[in-house]
Amino acid sequence: MNAENTVLVTGATGNVGRQVVSQLITARTSTVRALTRNPSTATLPDEVDVRQGDLADPAALETALEGVNAVFLMWPFHTAEPALAVVNAVTRHARRVVFLSSGAVQDGLTPAQQSHPVGQSHAQVEEFIEQSGLTWSHLRPSTFAANTLWWADQIRTGDVVQGAYGAVPMALLHEADIAAVAVHALTEDGHHRAVHRLTGPEVLTQTAQVRTIGAVIGRPLLWQELSREAARQRLLADESFPNAFADALLDGYADMLDAPRPALTSTVEAVTGAPARTYHQWVCDHAADFR
Ligand SMILES: NC(=O)c1ccc[n+]([C@@H]2O[C@H](COP(=O)([O-])OP(=O)(O)OC[C@H]3O[C@@H](n4cnc5c(N)ncnc54)[C@H](OP(=O)(O)O)[C@@H]3O)[C@@H](O)[C@H]2O)c1
Repeated sequence: MNAENTVLVTGATGNVGRQVVSQLITARTSTVRALTRNPSTATLPDEVDVRQGDLADPAALETALEGVNAVFLMWPFHTAEPALAVVNAVTRHARRVVFLSSGAVQDGLTPAQQSHPVGQSHAQVEEFIEQSGLTWSHLRPSTFAANTLWWADQIRTGDVVQGAYGAVPMALLHEADIAAVAVHALTEDGHHRAVHRLTGPEVLTQTAQVRTIGAVIGRPLLWQELSREAARQRLLADESFPNAFADALLDGYADMLDAPRPALTSTVEAVTGAPARTYHQWVCDHAADFR
């Protein structure tokens, strides 16, 4: 472990950040510091220097940033403006930032020209970072395979998954692959100004995703198509799903249904040397959540 190289991981208890933490520990090239609002419930490995902090309170981040060389930055909010103060705080301490952006960001458009709200806010954070003077890399991942955990309750209690837009094709991405690219960008040279557009290795409709889960857990599962409004009501009634995100999610699916099939990239393999993991592999890694 190199005490000269300290990496601060934000979103360290989330899908991607938790993987970034564990892969940095395995790489043994950096001291790993993690940001969370609730250290007492974060359940991070003992090797991690866990710091309490809130990205909505940039002044309080200064302590967590002391002595840090590189930051893995995720942005959990739907508005980008508060990110400027966070990027400024990072710039006062660190040399490098790797930003978990979104595949929704369209090339060649300003933040205001982006067609999707998620693309707008992430494009704005990207712009703040590009203007900061930091060494930067942006990760623009496709849809996370982890989103399908939203079906876990339905699958644990029955053989049918209800939702809208079952025919939407997605290039689902394993969080371990996003993290693997992040760890390379955080710890190696050669990623400055890189925009890493990441996808999984295959395109699957939601209906096919449900069949894959069934095949792995050994129980045939069926997709049941709901109207958009019925699906919206279902999401709003689900306490584990953020209500504010229901319309954005369904609008995104409607757009994806009309858009060309997602284009696959080979960026995961080009950066890490290993091909992107399949959705089948992701389900095997998370099978316990569906049983
Ligand atoms: N889901 C997708 O398909 C998809 C696709 C492309 C891009 N993305 C982007 O990926 C990001 C989500 O990543 P994820 O799935 O790894 O996260 P996640 O599992 O949703 O976890 C959220 C993380 O954000 C942290 N967090 C929330 N509010 C915070 C605050 N006020 N201050 C500090 N930390 C806060 C939480 O930390 P604590 O609770 O420990 O504080 C937690 O670690 C979003 O920006 C999303 O737009 C998602």
